[in-house]
Amino acid sequence: MTSRMKCLALDYERYHKTFRLFLELSSEHQAMSKFIHESLPDIFARIGEGKTTFDVISVGSGTGEVDLEILSQLIKVLPDVKVGCDMVEPSEPMLEKCKELVSRTPNLGNVNFTWNQMTASEFEKHWRERQSEKKLDFIHMIQMLYYVTDTAATISFFRSLLNENGKLLIILVAGESSWGKLWGTYQKELCCTEITQCVTAADIKRYLTAEGISFETFVLPSTMDITECFIPGDEKGELLLDFLTEVLDFSHSAPPELKAGVMSFLRSPDCSSQQPVISCGSIQSQTFCKLHFV
Ligand SMILES: C[S@@+](CC[C@H](N)C(=O)[O-])C[C@H]1O[C@@H](n2cnc3c(N)ncnc32)[C@H](O)[C@@H]1O
Repeated sequence: MTSRMKCLALDYERYHKTFRLFLELSSEHQAMSKFIHESLPDIFARIGEGKTTFDVISVGSGTGEVDLEILSQLIKVLPDVKVGCDMVEPSEPMLEKCKELVSRTPNLGNVNFTWNQMTASEFEKHWRERQSEKKLDFIHMIQMLYYVTDTAATISFFRSLLNENGKLLIILVAGESSWGKLWGTYQKELCCTEITQCVTAADIKRYLTAEGISFETFVLPSTMDITECFIPGDEKGELLLDFLTEVLDFSHSAPPELKAGVMSFLRSPDCSSQQPVISCGSIQSQTFCKLHFV
């Protein structure tokens, strides 16, 4: 990474803005929702059998939409358990949105939230200082392991908090996805050295296999409309480029050769599929090309 380029994740306001836009233009949360409804209930039933309390940690909760879907499935499967939920999120704007969402959501009477505005490593320090003996039933890290300095140490610490039947859920981009390929090609130029950032599910699988830790894999396919990235000066396009590259103000801070290389890579079949779209608003229908990040 050149010295002019800064890591997007360290600017909480801009990160929040780019993340909101990403959610608007991608099917990411819809893909997660499908997994939460189709696969998690059975997992919860297995973990929660015979329990009266159920403890959860959400690491990198973001604005909480996914957390609340997870909790609603948990409550459906285990209606009589008392749920304790530690929310770990360093970004104030995102945590505030999350609290707002929780306060507006009905049927959470059985859930006791603890708010931790801190990073995963600060939470670990805090937990060790408290010398807590508490064991957890379910811990999830959804699209957050990119932002820790030591992925293996983070996984190892949170695994050590699990009950015998407890489960850790990690969601990351797939190694063979467009994001994985983009990082594979431009890792040196794009990724911040102080955080792992370019990690993918393939890296985690290699780590778990090497450690002899058993795991189950689920594939959650999603796409993102990146058409606006190719409109010079477009505000949304520039925000999206920040989110894709994880670089703050990529359009203006990246050296021209890097920018040209990334744009051409994004347009290539490794990242884009072109889908015709009919515009119905005009008298004569027009066909546009939409670029999909896959
Ligand atoms: C891509 S968002 C995912 C949010 C949420 N899990 C979701 O899927 O909607 C990544 C989240 O990780 C948070 N994050 C960044 N660095 C972190 C760290 N060191 N420890 C914990 N969370 C972190 C960000 O603030 C952000 O909310």
